[in-house]
Amino acid sequence: MSFDLILFGGTGDLVWRKLLPALFQAFRHGSLPAGGRIVGVARDDLSDAQYRALIKTRFDDVDLAKRPSEEEFARFASMLFYLRMDLSNPADYFRLGAKLKEHAWDTVVMYLATAPGLFTTFCEQIAIAGLNGPQMRVVLEKPLGHDLQSNRAINESVRRVFSEKQIFRIDHYLGKPSVQNLFALRFGNALFEPLWRRETIANIQITIAEELGIEKRGAFYDSTGALRDMVQNHALQLLCAIGMEPPINAHADAIRDEKLKVLRSLKAWTPETLRQHVVRGQYGAGNIDGAATQAYRRETGVGDGSNTETFVALRCEIANWRWAGVPFYIRTGKRLAGRSAYIEVNFRPAPHAIFKSPLGIANRLVIHLQPKDGLELHLFAQGQQNRLTSQTLAPVQLDLDFDKRFGSERVGAYERLLLDVIDGRLNLFVRSDEQEEAWRWVEPVMDAWKNDSEGPRPYAAGTWGPSASSAMIARDGYCWTEEC
Ligand code: BG6
Repeated sequence: MSFDLILFGGTGDLVWRKLLPALFQAFRHGSLPAGGRIVGVARDDLSDAQYRALIKTRFDDVDLAKRPSEEEFARFASMLFYLRMDLSNPADYFRLGAKLKEHAWDTVVMYLATAPGLFTTFCEQIAIAGLNGPQMRVVLEKPLGHDLQSNRAINESVRRVFSEKQIFRIDHYLGKPSVQNLFALRFGNALFEPLWRRETIANIQITIAEELGIEKRGAFYDSTGALRDMVQNHALQLLCAIGMEPPINAHADAIRDEKLKVLRSLKAWTPETLRQHVVRGQYGAGNIDGAATQAYRRETGVGDGSNTETFVALRCEIANWRWAGVPFYIRTGKRLAGRSAYIEVNFRPAPHAIFKSPLGIANRLVIHLQPKDGLELHLFAQGQQNRLTSQTLAPVQLDLDFDKRFGSERVGAYERLLLDVIDGRLNLFVRSDEQEEAWRWVEPVMDAWKNDSEGPRPYAAGTWGPSASSAMIARDGYCWTEEC
């Protein structure tokens, strides 16, 4: 199958950091269909040869063992092309049309790795140039808007030009092997299903912690913040994967229908819950891995008095028969004490204790998403077999390490998603109604913050966020992993 993959924003950060390495991996794994073209599009005046030379430098700092040889890169580079184009200039879309005519393709994937402000113009001009035929697919990167209204406007303009099955909205968390394993855990095994409910589960915690700060994205991040950058999309998609009902089959719409129901069931905010169940923080100066790091407000592109949150912790509930009353906690932040993403399912304690055990102990399933990919099941056993302690339970842990089991060189998130777009598989992409529902739910939080003069709570870089986050969960009698 032959394809043209057009990367708008072809010299930008996303292409540089994620898309080209992913495409190269797919090429190296032999999964990129032969005879395809990858066309970088940007405003710079570059020839194909200059673009290839630029892309080659991307691999300069890759480990020697993984760096492509001259010969291997030359083979990959023969798929790379470049087109200079200004997306706000209608005439340039006809030049794109001419470029597409140079090559016989079965499908054209247009990947918008550009500022979302350009999406609407892009769609209008693509239609005028007649480039929205049924073989075309469009990939939209987040953030898709900055609130419900702008998200709807983008979705409407895209849908005017492309049908829903041509639209691939990326949430790269869905492409992670660990997240696919989460679906496999729940819907490929019957073991946990009877336990996956309010009667047996006390609470669920979703943590996506980053050590990195905002890198070179100050201006973007300062107008975005952690709620829009991480919660509205990645964290809520994880919540859906954990909380959804089993879909009737593995087709895209069956899965999306169930995720949508979770988002629709999220308990609406009240003034009280907005005060008690949401914590926003912003990192100050601190220490990461022994090195001093500067405060968020000192980062390039960030205003001195910025109130943008770099940390969010919140408590929510899925109001349905399965989950009523079970708190789901979400927390995510930059410049935290470690890079790790995991979901902790905390079961209720045994109803009646016949063994001596520390108070309140209960089973726990930890689903590690990154950097580790695997499962940990925390159980209890009689460890010390001596007369004094034979009745005392000790914690033990079952570990399933997917990297060890399947190898750590598995298909990465962007590699998976790019291959799926080329093949036309929509399962791991987000439908517009899911996105809108997620915006609808986070909007009251954004509105409450707009009217709150207190601003985010400070936390030192290299910690687990403001103490108010621990206080929030402690009010329910629970604690975050590192505190228990
Ligand atoms: C992106 C956010 O969507 O996800 C970034 O814009 C964040 O701010 C990144 O760093 C995290 O992705 P990952 O795969 O490194 O956990």
